[in-house]
Amino acid sequence: MNSAPGSEIYIGLMSGTSLDGVDVAIVDFAEFPPLLLHTSTTSYTESIRRRLRQLCQSQSTSLAELYSLDVELGELYAGVVNQALETASLDRNRIAALGSHGQTISHSPDGAVAFTAQIGDPARLATRCGITTVADFRRKDIALGGQGAPLAPAFHRFLFHSGNEDRAVINIGGIANITWLPADQDAAMLGFDTGPGNTLLDYWIEKHRSQPFDDGGDWARGGRVIDSLLDEMIAAEKYFASKAPKSTGTEYFGPDWLAGYLREQHDARDVQATLLELTTHTIADAISGLPSAAVKCFVCGGGAHNRFLLERLRHLLPQCGVTTTASLGLDPNYVEAVAFAWLARERLNLRNGNIPEVTRARRGTILGAIYTGE
Ligand SMILES: Nc1ncnc2c1ncn2[C@@H]1O[C@H](COP(=O)(O)OP(=O)(O)O)[C@@H](O)[C@H]1O
Ligand SMILES: [Mg+2]
Repeated sequence: MNSAPGSEIYIGLMSGTSLDGVDVAIVDFAEFPPLLLHTSTTSYTESIRRRLRQLCQSQSTSLAELYSLDVELGELYAGVVNQALETASLDRNRIAALGSHGQTISHSPDGAVAFTAQIGDPARLATRCGITTVADFRRKDIALGGQGAPLAPAFHRFLFHSGNEDRAVINIGGIANITWLPADQDAAMLGFDTGPGNTLLDYWIEKHRSQPFDDGGDWARGGRVIDSLLDEMIAAEKYFASKAPKSTGTEYFGPDWLAGYLREQHDARDVQATLLELTTHTIADAISGLPSAAVKCFVCGGGAHNRFLLERLRHLLPQCGVTTTASLGLDPNYVEAVAFAWLARERLNLRNGNIPEVTRARRGTILGAIYTGE
């Protein structure tokens, strides 16, 4: 199954709920810490983003549109991988496998019928790239009663665990999630989605300023937090107070969710400031609820570039020395892509990829389906 027996070079592809595009990382795991041979991000075209947003927000479309997007993303991802190999001057025969998360279009682990759905045809990837492709990482965990998410915690433990200090990894993508890594290896890990990360911030600035995101958080910085709105959102939304394991998606924390709270006219900039506080407060509350107060926090994901958001997190968590994963040697933009390269490696080596105490699956299990490279 390994495209290149003996090789420890894997490719990871990640396209998160922000719908910003796809991240690729080519990683050599022969050494520890693993060596990044190539990283890059390819933005989705406006047209793809619009169609994905339409699908994710409406949760409905025609089968023809669904499968067309599935194939188009598969082709797009294959192009990204082939370009990355060329840029890195790497022969595809040296790649053991590629792990592709796919684009989540729906995540409903707690519905009457539990499911999660990712698209981005892995058969296309395997054939267009000629590399063994691992995909569909989440459904086995759901089949075992788990949340199918988050899956990055096992990788966070592999790379970021320290025997000297308790650590938390805070991934701020469309949704934000945290991983708790106690110094004591025997202590239980935790990992869960805290709620919205960038998704509502992106939605609001796009709506009012036609910008895809609030660069550095500068727009939010100039607004005034509407305390009554913030308090109401935090008090009324059951997700925030519910206990882990838990996971959520942008189809829930989307425009309709926000509209439910915006009954009065507010200054748009003040709403942006309030949404940023919602993200930082819900993350800070989750960190404060961890078993140890003296936890060192490392941020990754696109939210790591939101200077104002990081300032607010540092303010709310003064004891946590909030910094980014760059200080642990891994570019915050590519933690998730490297995680899926690593999960492909776990799959090929027949090792469990989920952590049952994190996802609440009945047991640990091997994750991902294999498409042999042609
Ligand atoms: N310079 C920046 N300032 C503020 N936010 C940023 C910046 N760069 C990226 N982001 C945010 O990060 C998001 C992308 O983060 P990412 O980790 O790729 O999320 P996902 O995994 O959900 O795709 C963007 O949608 C944007 O909100
Ligand atoms: Mg992204």
